[in-house]
Amino acid sequence: MNEKNDRAAWIKGGNTTCSNPPRTTPDRVWRLVLLGSPGVGKGTQAVLMHERLGPCHLSTGDVFRAAKSLPDGERSPALNEALEYMRLGKLVPDEIVLNVIRERVSCLRCPSGFLLDGFPRTVAQAEALEKLLQKEKLALTAVLNYELPLEEILERLGGRRTCSGCKAVFHMVNLRPRVEGICDFCGAKLFLREDDRPESIRVRMEAYEKSTKPLIDFYKKRGLLVTIVAGKVPEETYQRTMKALGVAAAA
Ligand code: AP5
Repeated sequence: MNEKNDRAAWIKGGNTTCSNPPRTTPDRVWRLVLLGSPGVGKGTQAVLMHERLGPCHLSTGDVFRAAKSLPDGERSPALNEALEYMRLGKLVPDEIVLNVIRERVSCLRCPSGFLLDGFPRTVAQAEALEKLLQKEKLALTAVLNYELPLEEILERLGGRRTCSGCKAVFHMVNLRPRVEGICDFCGAKLFLREDDRPESIRVRMEAYEKSTKPLIDFYKKRGLLVTIVAGKVPEETYQRTMKALGVAAAA
């Protein structure tokens, strides 16, 4: 696996810069939105696409999870509020999410391009992103909409384990770490995300159906939607993604 991008500018916001310079692809800069229900595999695909195509993985969920590990005094009241919504599996209010994005607008200008994962998640967020990109004179390349039957999604969320150090994602069956409970990349312990417990999963799926699914039509109307049926293993989904984007998939 290539060097993991530290994404410091995205995760911390403000004037923070990333330790590794942006990678540019000579012929193409990708600016993609990843859509799909919780657990469909957006984050897993984002890591593969970052390694092979160059765009930075910009996950709003990762920003909130990073805020969780800050000492209490260093979190703004808005972030504390966001964490409580997240713990319950509810969507964080649009205004808080949009402030997080505005504080990180430099990441949208990154010469490596971007993979937005988990944002936008409501029509109001999609409209705000559209305005922001217009102002920056940037355009989305495509919106990738991943699909998978509900029972497989539930199996993925229940088996997911996340690294407490570098936040890499594993699965107890599909993507096992070499040593049980330990991250392959940094050696830290793996944990079950608080919102991967059954009661939060149910709330997240409802929020997806009600608030995020309408984005499929939103982006279809703009001619940007590319639907991909998620595969049995991450590599299969990746190959399908590359085919859908018309890219030769270097393994
Ligand atoms: P977020 O972090 O965005 O979570 P999510 O959308 O629920 O997505 P997940 O991270 O659960 O799933 P994923 O699709 O990335 O799947 P993964 O690749 O890990 O958001 C969390 C919370 O933050 C929200 O609930 C909300 O509260 C808040 N939030 C964030 N953004 C917000 C916004 N814009 N507005 C409002 N609130 C916001 O894969 C899942 C598992 O399956 C893994 O174990 C993986 O190893 C395995 N797997 C992946 N692909 C495959 C495959 N092809 N075959 C087999 N197994 C696979």
